[in-house]
Amino acid sequence: MNITRKVINDTYYVGGSDNRLNLFENLFPIPNGVSYNSYVILDKFNVLVDTVDESIKELFLNNVKYILNGKKLDYLILNHLELDHASVIKEVIQNYPKVKLVLNEKAFNMLKAYDLGLEVEFILVKEDTKLNIGIRELSFVFAPMVHWPEVMFTYDPLNKILYSADAFGSFSTLNGNIFLSETKLDEYIIDDMRRYYTNIVGKYGRQVQSVLEKAATLDIKLICPLHGHIIDTNFDILFDKYTKWATYNYEEKGIVIVYASMYQNTKNTAFKIANELSVKGIKNIKIYDVSKTDVSYIISDIFKYSNLLIASPTYNGCIYPKINYLIDDLLMLNVSNKSISLVENGIWACTSIKQMS
Ligand code: FEO
Repeated sequence: MNITRKVINDTYYVGGSDNRLNLFENLFPIPNGVSYNSYVILDKFNVLVDTVDESIKELFLNNVKYILNGKKLDYLILNHLELDHASVIKEVIQNYPKVKLVLNEKAFNMLKAYDLGLEVEFILVKEDTKLNIGIRELSFVFAPMVHWPEVMFTYDPLNKILYSADAFGSFSTLNGNIFLSETKLDEYIIDDMRRYYTNIVGKYGRQVQSVLEKAATLDIKLICPLHGHIIDTNFDILFDKYTKWATYNYEEKGIVIVYASMYQNTKNTAFKIANELSVKGIKNIKIYDVSKTDVSYIISDIFKYSNLLIASPTYNGCIYPKINYLIDDLLMLNVSNKSISLVENGIWACTSIKQMS
């Protein structure tokens, strides 16, 4: 079985989707699954851009074989070495022993830990390297910490394609429609993109800003990320979203109220505040029980809205553990530019605000 699609002219999609995985990175719920994208460019020298996760290995290898149709594979470009994209390098080398691995120095050093145990030739690239593959020269944009230090983008000037690694990626399987223009850029797609970005790459806003500036200088017709739809439309909307997320600026005025509550008292306080805010004309009010909703959804909405209110009971003289986890996550992700209010509760030692502050 193979499932492939033509992206444009001589370029093909050879990735696939997994909807059996419950937790991405064994951490983030993905009720709609996830795709692992990979691409083949056919030219005088044929190129594979990244591999995939182990879970879709067999389909991926069939896809590559089908598209090559007996032709040789000359280069495997490694834009990102996280294992959801680098789990099948060994099998690609085994199937195509003359393939050369194209990567930067940081990736080369990291790859040693993968212990491939195979003889293979490497081509180390820098940002000014041009890789001539026939009728075009591929170039490279280094994107350190988007989302690992070795990450780079590959640019095809002929088809005006930016292979953007994790950037512009999203949760959810690709359900036949691999191009964004084949579906509707609705709130569900944006929500998946935001939850992916904010939780996976959200910490590295400064680096994302820097790479967005570099990308803005390129003539781009298609963005081919490693997860989610190929972006062929709505560039302005998406660049605006990514710029807001990267700078921790809100998309909409509104408030996220997150509470923990053991006996409904803190919960009632949260809902009372929401009620009063509504009376005062606040339209966007999202309320989350931190014990009920996975923190990745809450983080995503915190990026989206301007204000945040956290209400926590005092628990064993400390912050309620799940609120503590949320705050740790906010700190880890460098979330800033938010107006934050704190509410505490407690009968015999009311200390959670002090500690949350
Ligand atoms: Fe999709 Fe950073 O890997």
